[in-house]
Amino acid sequence: MENFNQIEKDILDKIKSIKNRNSYDSVKTEIFGKKGILTELFKKIGSLDQDQRKEFASRLNSLKTKVTEILEKKLNDFNQLEIDKKLKNENLDVTLPGRTYFSGKIHPVSQVIDEVTSIFSEIGFSVEEGPDVENEYYNFSALNTPENHPARDMHDTFYLEQSKDLLLRTHTSPVQIRTMLKGKPPFKIIAPGRTYRCDSDQTHSPMFHQLEGLHIGKNINMGHLKGCLYYFVKKFFEVEKVKIRFRPSHFPFTEPSAEVDIGYKIENGQIKVGDGDKWLEVLGCGMVHPNVLKNAKVNPKQYQGYAFGVGLDRLAMLKYGINDLRAFFESDIRWLEFYGFDPLDVPTNYRGLSR
Ligand code: PHE
Repeated sequence: MENFNQIEKDILDKIKSIKNRNSYDSVKTEIFGKKGILTELFKKIGSLDQDQRKEFASRLNSLKTKVTEILEKKLNDFNQLEIDKKLKNENLDVTLPGRTYFSGKIHPVSQVIDEVTSIFSEIGFSVEEGPDVENEYYNFSALNTPENHPARDMHDTFYLEQSKDLLLRTHTSPVQIRTMLKGKPPFKIIAPGRTYRCDSDQTHSPMFHQLEGLHIGKNINMGHLKGCLYYFVKKFFEVEKVKIRFRPSHFPFTEPSAEVDIGYKIENGQIKVGDGDKWLEVLGCGMVHPNVLKNAKVNPKQYQGYAFGVGLDRLAMLKYGINDLRAFFESDIRWLEFYGFDPLDVPTNYRGLSR
């Protein structure tokens, strides 16, 4: 008769030595596998005498039950250990409040640039850009602005310290010159961008935005200019009627020149466009001066056209009822929350926007 006590001790020692899942599997095979310790003992039963067989079988069975139970417990311990480890690494407190989600807003000026660009694109204008840091030639001389013109005065223009020749462009008009010099007529472009002047009050900021327009071709006249601007203003303000006033004016780079005002009134502290007896100047325009065309290598005997420069910030003030320009550039997040636009709003010039 086998020494069951010794066998049991051997088996329990083996089980004790199990360190991980892999050694668990190999020990289990050593006991219960095809050639396992217990399997071999079970095979023996058949060859035993009747009188031994019963006792042998019953001791073997109870050993099997005991070992099975111990192994099962061991496996459970391993599984539990794994779960504990996972819980420790992936600890997630589902009772915590969710994270607040802030969505950004589109600044009214960016919104207006999008709208204006889409309106002019529809009637054949393409978009050009120029640098914020310009030189005197493009900003003044090429635009027929004589040396002694007051616009060149230090009070209006920010000159760069590095060079007397460099300045922050005071208008987007230098893009007219750059565009004409790099191409051949006809030209039909707009150029939105930042502009700078030494000026600051409720309707002036040292940095502001303009949109330049330039249309040069054969037989283009003041009628085309007026038609284009009326079309634009109606589309932009999404109304059939806007009060517009063309005032004779002077710019060195256009002849004749005009300034355009838009009629508005203040109702409950809010700007309302359309009627009313107040006027806000929003753009300067005129027929491009022959000297400018010459400077830009365009033959004024063959080609002529109009140009305009719109104050984009003022358009935003009028359309969206914002009455202090300085707040545009103070970067107050509460202001932007209130006046800004949802990034998913599609700029449209056919129907009213959300605000
Ligand atoms: N550049 C002018 C300004 O800044 C506007 C303008 C542009 C006028 C084009 C006429 C033609 O005031």
